[in-house]
Amino acid sequence: MKKLPKIKILDEKNKILRTKSKEVTFPLPEEDKKRINDMLTYLEMSQIDETREYYNLRAGMGLSYIQIGIPKRIFVISEEIEKGKFERHIIINPKIKSTSEEMVYIEEGEGCLSINRPTEGIVPRHARITIEAYDEDGKLYNIRVREELAVCFQHELDHLNGILFVDRIDPKNPYKNKDKYRAI
Ligand code: NI
Repeated sequence: MKKLPKIKILDEKNKILRTKSKEVTFPLPEEDKKRINDMLTYLEMSQIDETREYYNLRAGMGLSYIQIGIPKRIFVISEEIEKGKFERHIIINPKIKSTSEEMVYIEEGEGCLSINRPTEGIVPRHARITIEAYDEDGKLYNIRVREELAVCFQHELDHLNGILFVDRIDPKNPYKNKDKYRAI
């Protein structure tokens, strides 16, 4: 079996997750490049049935630096575009350039590798967003994402500001205004 990278993900009880992460300067140290690669490998192994079951993982497609205890404005996303084939996104010092007016929500609710309990409720997110960010070599680029990937980006952007998805759910009315948004 492929070796699982050593990644220790903090639970929501840990106050560090509430930190607003700080901008990163370039060039990125080699240890950060290795860490980024390890985080992406971890996410991919969590999405592949065989490795997920073997290592008893929860599936996740995004992870922020703050979730491993480092307050830097970096997150990674790996999306399975076809069986066993992944598209990687490395997002550093992101800035939101534009957002759609249309709002969506994940029908079965969002998930987070730092939240290890059942949750109830929906989180309205922009259906499409455009972001400007740096890659690991310090090159500035733009990316436009939509639907589930856009939700994932907004979830990870929240992590950089110390916000968890459950913070965006009203416990008294977890499905508030559901009819105003499109379920995905
Ligand atoms: Ni999360």
